Amino acid sequence: QKGNIAIAIDGPAAAGKSTVAKIVAEKLSYIYIDTGAMYRALTLKAINQGIDLENDQAILEVLMHTVIELKQSEAGQVVLLDGKDVTNEIRFQDVTTKVSHVAKHASIREEMVQRQQEMANDRGVVMDGRDIGTHVLPDAEVKIFLIASVEERAKRRYEENIKKGIASSMEELKKEIEERDRIDTNREASPLIKAKDAIEVDTTSLSINEVAGEILKAVAKI
Ligand code: CDP
Ligand code: CDP
Repeated sequence: QKGNIAIAIDGPAAAGKSTVAKIVAEKLSYIYIDTGAMYRALTLKAINQGIDLENDQAILEVLMHTVIELKQSEAGQVVLLDGKDVTNEIRFQDVTTKVSHVAKHASIREEMVQRQQEMANDRGVVMDGRDIGTHVLPDAEVKIFLIASVEERAKRRYEENIKKGIASSMEELKKEIEERDRIDTNREASPLIKAKDAIEVDTTSLSINEVAGEILKAVAKI
């Protein structure tokens, strides 16, 4: 593999994007950028300020006065919202069910994409999200589209919750994932779609390491 490249990882909710992106970034000593965390942080702030989430102008106004930082620490990635650690808060149910409504607005996406492109710059980068291969890094040398059955994805979130000590219902998780995928796929502004030149990997029956291995294989071919 020659020099530092950009790796774009897209796909629906809970397909394993962030988990494998982190592993790949570590293996290559690249930076990892979780773009979903940025939309989640903005959603958290808009909720706390009581903003109407259908009002894109009001949300954009909030975003223009918001600093979102992704920092690597020994404990993993930390998300700072105006300097405050919101790493755990942005995964709460309320944010999860509302984030797609914030992310569907074209003006919000435009500003986010600009910030994400600046963060990537020309460093070696692994970036995950919904529109990375299609809009944020259209020239990425490696594009991956991760999918898995919705049952498997709900099961993964369920098990993740158990580890965190959170009680949840598999049926509810499945509904929430399907609803978010529906909004993300059907929105007008850069919807969730596989880039023409992306490699699709069905992770339904693959382990985390197997998925990371597939991506590293694609990187080695560059
Ligand atoms: O990790 P999980 O699949 O739960 O979601 P995420 O990656 O944290 O993204 C949360 C939401 O942000 C998605 O459902 C999308 O609505 C939005 N998003 C987006 O529109 N574009 C991105 N590049 C990343 C996330
Ligand atoms: O970022 P995204 O929402 O796509 O998914 P994730 O948060 O990375 O992964 C969701 C859960 O699935 C995590 O708990 C992973 O450990 C798990 N996972 C898995 O069990 N098998 C895989 N091949 C990939 C992820």
